Amino acid sequence: MPQYILAIDQGTTSSRSLLFDHDARIVSVAQEEFRQILPAPGQVEHDPEDIWNSQLNTIHGALGKVALDAVAAIGITNQRETTFVWDKRTGNPIHNAIVWQSRVSSYLCDRLRKEGLEETIRQKTGLVLDAYFSATKLMHLLETIDGARRAAEEGHLLFGTVDCYLVWKLTGGKRHVTDASNASRTMMLNFETLDWDDELLAAYNIPRGMLPEIVDCSGKFAETDPAIFGASIPIAGMAGDQQAASFGQTCFDQGMVKNTYGTGAFALMNIGDKPVLSQNNLLTTVGWKIGDQVSYALEGSIFVAGAVVQWLRDGLGIIECSSEVEPLADTVPDNGGVYFVPAFVGLGAPYWDPNARGTIVGLTRGTTGGHLARAALESMAYQTRDMIEAMQRDAGVPLQVLQVDGGASVNNALMQFQTDLLGTTVRRPKVSETTGLGAAFLAGLAVGFWESQEELRGLWNLDKEFMPATDRSKMDQMYARWKEAVERSRNWER
Ligand code: G3P
Repeated sequence: MPQYILAIDQGTTSSRSLLFDHDARIVSVAQEEFRQILPAPGQVEHDPEDIWNSQLNTIHGALGKVALDAVAAIGITNQRETTFVWDKRTGNPIHNAIVWQSRVSSYLCDRLRKEGLEETIRQKTGLVLDAYFSATKLMHLLETIDGARRAAEEGHLLFGTVDCYLVWKLTGGKRHVTDASNASRTMMLNFETLDWDDELLAAYNIPRGMLPEIVDCSGKFAETDPAIFGASIPIAGMAGDQQAASFGQTCFDQGMVKNTYGTGAFALMNIGDKPVLSQNNLLTTVGWKIGDQVSYALEGSIFVAGAVVQWLRDGLGIIECSSEVEPLADTVPDNGGVYFVPAFVGLGAPYWDPNARGTIVGLTRGTTGGHLARAALESMAYQTRDMIEAMQRDAGVPLQVLQVDGGASVNNALMQFQTDLLGTTVRRPKVSETTGLGAAFLAGLAVGFWESQEELRGLWNLDKEFMPATDRSKMDQMYARWKEAVERSRNWER
C-alpha cells in the first residue's frame, strides 16, 4: 500500500521536492537554489539544464531511502509562464528559458497593441497584454534565434512551460503535455473553450504544432521513464504554483482568497465555474480543471515580493542571508517615513506598468539599514492591499478572510501588519507549503490516495489567526503615502 505522494515544486529561484503522507504532513523535503541569468536590465533567464538537474537532485534528496513502490504518484507544480523551446529530435533547448519576470519581449507587446489586439486578447484569454505571459516570449525566440521559425514550421520544435518541460524529461521525451491552469498563463489559451485559440496563434504567428496537449490538473496522464528512478511512477497532478497553492489551501468555494508570498506574491480568488472578466486590472485565470469541473480565479500578480529580500542580500549587501532581514527591521520602531516600491521589472497588478522602476522615497540623514529592511518587508503588504482592493471592487463585497502561505507568511510581525493594513482577518495554515501540498492533493485524488475534495478540507489545519486592529486611520495614512511612492516609481524607463 503506497504511503506517500511526491510533490515537485519547481520555483523561480529554487527547485524543491516534498514527500507528503496521508495526513498531508511533510515527511521529507529537499531544496536547491539555481542560477539566475540576468543578460541585461529587466531580462531574466534560466538554463534548462540547471532546472532539470536541480529538480532531479531534490527528488532524490526527498525520496532518500524510501522505496519507490511507497510513492503512489507524483504531482508537479511550477513557476508559471517561463518559456522553453527545444528540438524534439535531440531534446536540446534552442535557448535559455525566458523567465516570467523578463521584459525582453515588451517590444512585441507594443507591436500587438498597435495592431489593435489588446481587447481581443483580454476577451479571449482573461489576461492583460503584457510580456509576463508566454506568448510574446515564444514569439521573441522564434523571431530572434537563427533558423528557429523554419524549424518550428517544419515541426521540429516544441514549446512548453516548466511543467511541460519536466514531464517531457521525466517521461524520456514520450509526453508533451501541459495542464489547463498552466496553459491559461500563456496568452494562447481560449478560456471558454479551454483549447489553444487559432485566431490568436495566427496573430502571433505561432505554429500550433509546437504546442502541447492540454490535460486535466488531476488524472493519470503520464508515467516516469523507468530508466530515471529504476521503476515508473505515475505523474497524476499538475498545476501552476499559484493555482496549486489555492488548491492546497482548499479554496474550493466561490469567494475564498489566498495570497502566497514567494519570489513574487499572488492573490487568487475563486470565482466559480464561469470566467468573469475583471473591471479592475486583475487577471482571469483557470484555477483547475478536473474532469467536467472547471474552477476559475481572479488573480492579482505582484512581480517582486520575497525577491526584495534577495536584493537586500545580493544587490545592496546589507544582510548576508535572508533570515537577517527580520532582526534588521526590528532595530527600528517604524519605517521612519521610508517607502520602497520594488518595481525592479515594472509593476504588475493592478498597475501593469512595464516602465516603472524600483524607487525608495523618504530617505533622510537618519535613515538606517533597519528602515530600508522594514520598508522592503512592508512593500509586500502594501502591494497585497493594492491587489485585494481591486479584488474587492470586482467582487462588490469586502473580503472577510485572507488565507496566507509562502516564505514570508511565517513572519508574524509582517502578517500582523498585513491584517492591520487590510482590516481583514488573516489565517495561516499549519502547512505553509501549500503549493507543494496542492500538487500532492491533485495527484492523490487521481490515484485514489485521497477520496474527495471534502476529505482534503479536513486536512487544512489552522496555525495562527491574525485579527485587525480596530483603529485603522494610521494604516490608511501610511497606505496613502505608499500610493504616492508608487506614482513616483512609474514611467521611469523610456
Ligand atoms: O507567475 C509566476 C509565479 O508562478 C512564480 O511563482 O513562487 O516562483 O514566485 P514563485
